[in-house]
Amino acid sequence: MSPAQANPARARGRFITFEGIDGAGKSTQARRLAEALRARGATVRLTREPGGSPGAEEIRRLLVEGPAERWSGETEVLLFTAARRDHLERTIRPALAAGEVVISDRFADSTRVYQGAARGELRKLVDRLHSDLIGLEPDLTFILDMDAAPALARGLARRSGEDRFEDLGAGFQDRLRAGFRDLAREFPDRCRLIDAGRDVDVIAGEIAEIALMDKARTI
Ligand code: TYD
Repeated sequence: MSPAQANPARARGRFITFEGIDGAGKSTQARRLAEALRARGATVRLTREPGGSPGAEEIRRLLVEGPAERWSGETEVLLFTAARRDHLERTIRPALAAGEVVISDRFADSTRVYQGAARGELRKLVDRLHSDLIGLEPDLTFILDMDAAPALARGLARRSGEDRFEDLGAGFQDRLRAGFRDLAREFPDRCRLIDAGRDVDVIAGEIAEIALMDKARTI
């Protein structure tokens, strides 16, 4: 019996996400995993948040550019959720329905941690909007964990013009790191904490091994 027949709820592709503080190397590792899975014959859709669909990419610009105090916490949660809903409708669900592996550089855990870390009481709003409007959790989440100072230096060195969150400083990044570690404990079934302070190839090898061993895998 194939995994999909064993559990009809899983009659679809596989959804893998990368999370962590700014500059922890998510984008590189997401790309490396996509390459590793493609080399084994999988059809992989590599995507990112905020963004991942034309409409969500437009919303992204509103979120990552400009001064840190540009939006209230509530407005920010609504904008991230609007972008995610479009990403889900236009990119993620169609790809999963076609049996593809979707790898997303950030997803809902980023809203739980970033907006929740900025203002703790927002976590309830984030959870309500998520269950009403998104309702999808990844099958597997890699949380790239490392010290905030070197990660922040790496992120800012890129000078992408998208530094609205990096500009909140090292204290904020420390809170984010703690938030992601808490999240790994909150969702132990799908989250894997990865030591991101090591050599890029070593990290990529560990991640590919975990993805290929995972019980939920369909390829
Ligand atoms: P990202 O493109 O991952 O930035 P980088 O490649 O520099 O790590 O994300 C842009 C910023 O948006 C990043 O600082 C994290 C923040 N963010 C949130 O605050 N909430 C969210 O829900 C998401 C998806 C991102």
